[in-house]
Amino acid sequence: MSDPADSFYKLIEGRHSVRRFKGTPVVEGVLKRILAAGIHAPSAHNRQPWRFVVLRALEARERLARRMGERLREDLERDGLEPAAIERDVERSYARISGAPVVVVVCMDQETMDEYPDPARRQAEFLMGVQGVAMAGQNILLAAHAEGLGGCWICAPLFVPNLVRDELGLPQSWSPQGLILLGYPADPGKARGRKRLGEVTLWK
Ligand SMILES: Cc1cc2nc3c(=O)[nH]c(=O)nc-3n(C[C@H](O)[C@H](O)[C@H](O)COP(=O)(O)O)c2cc1C
Repeated sequence: MSDPADSFYKLIEGRHSVRRFKGTPVVEGVLKRILAAGIHAPSAHNRQPWRFVVLRALEARERLARRMGERLREDLERDGLEPAAIERDVERSYARISGAPVVVVVCMDQETMDEYPDPARRQAEFLMGVQGVAMAGQNILLAAHAEGLGGCWICAPLFVPNLVRDELGLPQSWSPQGLILLGYPADPGKARGRKRLGEVTLWK
């Protein structure tokens, strides 16, 4: 008989980032189950700092992708990249975000966190919130995989928080941390290498 933990590890090891999707819609019940996995993540003081904005309408995904692409283009122009390389990057970013049937913008609500007078503890508290949101994100990616969906965390909102807040009408205290593309995979993604456990672990 197989160890009941085997299927858990198999699920974790079988998840790969998926960036291209079929047009098949994701039904709301499945989406809610996946998001509910997100809210079962642990968080500092159990403050549950995660906030999700679910974009399903094509127009909403396209508008966000277009505005983020414009800012990406400006950044890359400032970096002095070749125009053709800039257009490739901008087009790829636009295609990924607008091409996913579901985009979940993952935010951290800073109002949930304790306030401190000193910068060191403020920074630690901010990081605690970010860590909780990241854990929710991982739950979502794993739940999506368990449901037969693919997903990928995209960091672009971190670079344009004001644009994302403005585009989606979010409260000022919501700090966009990333977005998760979700949908049925057009390809299964590929296994990317990992450092060996021994390279990243100190045993004392
Ligand atoms: C915080 C974070 C930010 C990421 N940002 C991006 C991104 O902007 N674009 C992208 O294509 N993938 C992004 N990824 C996905 C990683 O590239 C991917 O997880 C990594 O290459 C390992 O591959 P795997 O997820 O298939 O195991 C991000 C992942 C994390 C955790």
